[in-house]
Amino acid sequence: MRIAHFSDTHVLSLTGVGPGRFLNKRWTGAVNLAMNRSRHYRVEIFEALLAAVVAEAPDHTLCTGDLVNLALEPEFVRVSELLHGHFGADSLTLVPGNHDAYCKDAVDAGLFARWFGAWQPPATADDAYPVLRVVDDAFIVGLTTARPTPVFMATGTLGDAQIAAMQAAFRRPEARDRFRVLMLHHPLFPEPKRRLDTMRRLTDADALLAALAELGDDGPGLVVHGHNHEFKRMALPSGVPVIQVASASRSGSTHRAEFNVYVIEDGRLAGVERHIHDPDTGSFRICDEAGRPQAAARAAS
Ligand SMILES: [Fe+2]
Repeated sequence: MRIAHFSDTHVLSLTGVGPGRFLNKRWTGAVNLAMNRSRHYRVEIFEALLAAVVAEAPDHTLCTGDLVNLALEPEFVRVSELLHGHFGADSLTLVPGNHDAYCKDAVDAGLFARWFGAWQPPATADDAYPVLRVVDDAFIVGLTTARPTPVFMATGTLGDAQIAAMQAAFRRPEARDRFRVLMLHHPLFPEPKRRLDTMRRLTDADALLAALAELGDDGPGLVVHGHNHEFKRMALPSGVPVIQVASASRSGSTHRAEFNVYVIEDGRLAGVERHIHDPDTGSFRICDEAGRPQAAARAAS
């Protein structure tokens, strides 16, 4: 089985948005964006990435949020159009990130569910989260960490009820004998060396880690997330891999857009392919976890 994963597209669209919309937190976001972000996150690269994902013909695709930038409705509309052009309701599962809940009014208006709900099958009829997807031999649980936060904060929170619902989902009979995946936007582990890390963390990561430890062998065999815009492999104390994917729209010499493909064999993660954008050709090159193009990686091994 092959499962693709992309995240953190940060699509900006100001179509039809007047200056009055920038009187709240978006104003600081917009200034920051104008200064820095807009030249780094390119929708045309994201479009090329979507085509490259589909060309890989994965069994399923995961997206772990931060699809939009300022949570303006034109951004949700633009990304929804792009996704509908590439994915049917059964071929993609997604969860939101902090930018998808950038302002309380976007959350109150239910914009994420309105434009992306097609790819979010809920685990139960009572709540929108966790999201639950069974695809052949894979059992996928998706969580939301997206909450409106004060200016300059990029934290996320799950809440005790959602963590308990996650445990219940993984204990379902359909989860047995399937490869179990947990997806969320925020990282599980702090990164003290990262600038402003305490303003970017999952506030109840310890509670999630304790719940995963409690699940033991019933828990996921793979945890995937985004948020920090660089590829990184980590692990739970039990050894279960935790993988952070880079941004799907990033341009520049040090960071490039990429998506992952997880190769599942015999009920375990057998390999991770990084598909990294090559600005010279516009295509995505298959690389190993160190970022070396696959042919070169084979020659070196
Ligand atoms: Fe994020």
